[in-house]
Amino acid sequence: MVTVTPSDKSLGARVTDIDLARPLDERTFAILLGALAHYGIVCFPSQKIDARQLRDFSANFGTLEVNVANSYQEPGLPEVMILSNIKQNGKPIGLSDAGQDWHTDMSYSKDIAFANVLHAIKVPHRNGAPLGNTEFADMYSAYDALPDDVRQRLEGATATHDFNKFWEEMRRRPGSSRAPLTPEQRRQKPPVSHPVFLKHPVSGRRVLYANPGYAISIDGWPERESEEMLNFLFEHQTSDRFRYIHRWTEGDVLMWDDLATLHNAKPDYREDEHRLIKRCQVMADRLFDPNFAQKAQAF
Ligand code: OGA
Ligand code: MN
Repeated sequence: MVTVTPSDKSLGARVTDIDLARPLDERTFAILLGALAHYGIVCFPSQKIDARQLRDFSANFGTLEVNVANSYQEPGLPEVMILSNIKQNGKPIGLSDAGQDWHTDMSYSKDIAFANVLHAIKVPHRNGAPLGNTEFADMYSAYDALPDDVRQRLEGATATHDFNKFWEEMRRRPGSSRAPLTPEQRRQKPPVSHPVFLKHPVSGRRVLYANPGYAISIDGWPERESEEMLNFLFEHQTSDRFRYIHRWTEGDVLMWDDLATLHNAKPDYREDEHRLIKRCQVMADRLFDPNFAQKAQAF
């Protein structure tokens, strides 16, 4: 039977004695859903799965997003995106700069994401140590540790999230090949509002759902106060005490909960140090269905 071994941090667990190439039975699914929500990040080491099996496993947790703006998809499987710095015949085979600063996937979208599922195929190394770690921050603990007055002021507040914020930040980096978003792209991804605090439907715990990548203002607040509060939240939520680092091993399937965590991909490897990851993104549609959340085993 599947084994869940928590890390010694507030986030993270390893899940072993499971083959993700095979369909999940109900009991195993209940354990995985509960573990994901409780630990925020679960790693399934040594998985031998192809892109279709990655997709089928991910689809147990909700509708999979198809990123229309992105051409780096697995042929014939638009739900599987390719993250890589590898070039073939001079052409990139994947998106090479995904997530390289603190953010939450899809917080800029009306329909938010529940989870990301990444399968590591090539992991760069130098002097025996892996490069391209993915860092996380625990948004349950960040919420719990907020000063009372901040929590009171933000009770019921919403914040605006804008896709263009992170895009522009990436564009300002030296060597970026990103073009400004076109008016049409901006129309497709208009800024949206979400509550600053969300209750996680599975764990029942509250999270701080704002992030430096996309949150641009607290709705209805004067500009200066909004900016000061967001700067405080960004500093608070990324502080060391909430962090967890995933060091990749080839074969890892890493799944994280986008309500419970923020993440940041470390770009500490060179162009000739190759990284290849396949990824699915699970939307939070089923997550907010009470019958779904109820299936999870409690942790
Ligand atoms: C992502 C992302 C992190 C990484 O897939 O959303 O941010 O380490 N990737 O590749
Ligand atoms: Mn990301």
